[in-house]
Amino acid sequence: MSDSSLDIQHLFSLEGKVALVTGGSRGIGYMISQGLLQAGARVYISARKAQACKDAAAELGQYGECVALPGDVSDPDSRRQLCEQLAAAEPRLDILVNNAGTAWGADYESFPESAFDKVMRVNVTAMFALTRDLTPLLEAAATPEDPARVINIGSMEGLHIPTVHGMGNYAYTTSKAAVHHLTRHLAVELGRRRITVNAIAPGFFPSRMTDHVFENRRQEIEGNSLLGRVGKAEEMAGIAVYLSGRAGAYTSGAVIPVDGGTSINHQHAVITDT
Ligand SMILES: NC(=O)c1ccc[n+]([C@@H]2O[C@H](COP(=O)([O-])OP(=O)(O)OC[C@H]3O[C@@H](n4cnc5c(N)ncnc54)[C@H](OP(=O)(O)O)[C@@H]3O)[C@@H](O)[C@H]2O)c1
Repeated sequence: MSDSSLDIQHLFSLEGKVALVTGGSRGIGYMISQGLLQAGARVYISARKAQACKDAAAELGQYGECVALPGDVSDPDSRRQLCEQLAAAEPRLDILVNNAGTAWGADYESFPESAFDKVMRVNVTAMFALTRDLTPLLEAAATPEDPARVINIGSMEGLHIPTVHGMGNYAYTTSKAAVHHLTRHLAVELGRRRITVNAIAPGFFPSRMTDHVFENRRQEIEGNSLLGRVGKAEEMAGIAVYLSGRAGAYTSGAVIPVDGGTSINHQHAVITDT
């Protein structure tokens, strides 16, 4: 007997859904936005640089309906404006992707406290505040069969201490571990409101954030992955579509590494039979 609920279209289609992707103008946010659009969602993207955000939305328009809502998620006024603009345009929000993020590298001795604060504010505080402020719109989309979704972008560097040495990214690793724990905490808080909350913990993907390290350490990075390479756009889009669609409706509170096994690479032992 066939079961139509297992149709691939039913499992993964996002037709009729509305999504917001912060930091959608480039890198991982752009990959995710494209994936959600191609699965049928209407996607709003946000980033601080207004023109770049509009240009990205225009370019993404070839895959579906994409709208730019420029703003700084770490600034309370700008964040409020973003929420108001979204609420004026949409009565509900099915998918929130908290992707905007920043990093800072400096030596241990000279690592500025102001930089530590900034990384925590963008990567963690803003993620909490935006999710809290958009919860009413998410609740408006949520049904028992098909919960609303929050997808937080963490990092494999919140799972392990980075294998690329000499970077001094203390605030970044700490913030990403906090993102993972916040994800679990919010999953508990929002589960009864029929909203799932999950985190993706990417390994290395090509983006402006990784340009510099790719230039200098590409071989080391690839060598640290069990698959010997960095991630591809389709692999980031794929996990986001899974978490957004019917197939992912029963997954909540999970932190999913998408890192080619990099985060466990130094946890395995090779035992040779002599
Ligand atoms: N690429 C990787 O290998 C990798 C690995 C693990 C995790 N991640 C995570 O993935 C996310 C995206 O990173 P990425 O590599 O794609 O970096 P990216 O190329 O630098 O993109 C960052 C995006 O976020 C936006 N953004 C930054 N600060 C913002 C703010 N305060 N308010 C609104 N938008 C802001 C940027 O646009 P504006 O500059 O115009 O604001 C841009 O669209 C981050 O959370 C990062 O930590 C990346």
